[in-house]
Amino acid sequence: MNILLTGGAGFIGSHTAVVLSQAGHEVVLLDNFCNCRKSVLERLEKILCKALPCVEGDIRDTTLVIKTLQDYKIDAVIHFAGLKAVGESIEKPIEYYANNVQGTISLLEAMKSSGVTTLVFSSSATVYGDPQYLPIDEKHPTSATNAYGRSKLHIEEMLKDVANSGADWNIICLRYFNPVGAHESGLIGEDPNGLPNNLMPYIAQVASEKLPHLNVYGNDYPTVDGTGVRDYIHVVDLAEGHLAALAYVQHHKGWDVFNLGTGHGISVFEMISSYKYASGKEIAYQIKGRRTGDIAECYTKVDKSQGILGWHSKRSLDQMCESSWLWQNMRNDSV
Ligand code: NAD
Ligand code: UFG
Repeated sequence: MNILLTGGAGFIGSHTAVVLSQAGHEVVLLDNFCNCRKSVLERLEKILCKALPCVEGDIRDTTLVIKTLQDYKIDAVIHFAGLKAVGESIEKPIEYYANNVQGTISLLEAMKSSGVTTLVFSSSATVYGDPQYLPIDEKHPTSATNAYGRSKLHIEEMLKDVANSGADWNIICLRYFNPVGAHESGLIGEDPNGLPNNLMPYIAQVASEKLPHLNVYGNDYPTVDGTGVRDYIHVVDLAEGHLAALAYVQHHKGWDVFNLGTGHGISVFEMISSYKYASGKEIAYQIKGRRTGDIAECYTKVDKSQGILGWHSKRSLDQMCESSWLWQNMRNDSV
């Protein structure tokens, strides 16, 4: 199939580009490079031994998206493009709704006018809010506490309406838990601008002595050791989830949703210990107060993605940390 990845030069998009291309799909990237470096294209070429076509532009440029869909005879779209920083979304809600919601409307208009009706959308476990029960299944009630999460919920609702509009749409939403790690080559990975917001990239910079210590946000949660528990998933497992989702969505009319995670919760202390082992470095940390908006514990029920998509995660926490550490050491090298 010919597949367009919006936001395909970003963290999850670039890993998915590798997996889809290696599975024999023709992959086209569309990215405005607002949150990634252009050097990712050379790095992808090095991994795949071929250059992937990349259109530089914004998904809100409907004319450009239409041209891209037609020029490359696109059969399906995976829609990664979006802004994703929770804190920033609270300060800049208009930018988040304009980029994420308006951007998705523009993409849908372009798809409709080009007759492309197969879409996989990057949603997030953040739409479950504070869990009412664990593990979280796809029927868990949804809610949002910030503009980022609300933009994902609005898009999901919008996609449901489009799928039910009587047209020939095949749409699925994938709710990712906590993607971490990097490609085994060490050539692509997560590349946050400035101070990392998320746990693993922050630990990576403490291990490499770019940052002095990790702030552990709370050790008084009702969890195994008092620190926050999350369902961390290797980004290559997540990318493989998209391959499975694509195979399913082609033959599935209407709208559907799947959680993508491992089904296992890992605490902050467990993550520190595993990263220390993978890197051979001390991870200094200080206990701080809870971070506003954080939940205690979150992990998925895997039955639906296993049963219907036939997909499950394979890579261990050690592999997540080892690949992150390799990327941390290689990311600044020239290709
Ligand atoms: P990322 O920032 O690395 O990738 C997003 C890409 O989209 C970037 O390359 C950026 O330049 C591009 N982009 C943003 N707005 C654009 C626009 N208007 N037009 C064209 N390109 C645009 O983020 P990621 O971690 O790869 O996340 C991909 C998707 O998955 C996002 O929608 C994100 O909300 C979602 N998600 C991520 C996580 C996570 O923890 N990384 C968790 C759940 C969901
Ligand atoms: N944490 C620290 N110190 C840090 C960073 C994080 O102790 O410097 C703790 C947090 O308190 C939490 C855990 O590590 O207990 C994980 O935090 P992350 O910021 O890595 O991940 P979150 O689960 O808070 O949020 C992430 C994304 C959201 C997304 C969500 C679910 O940032 O956008 O996963 O996919 F919605």
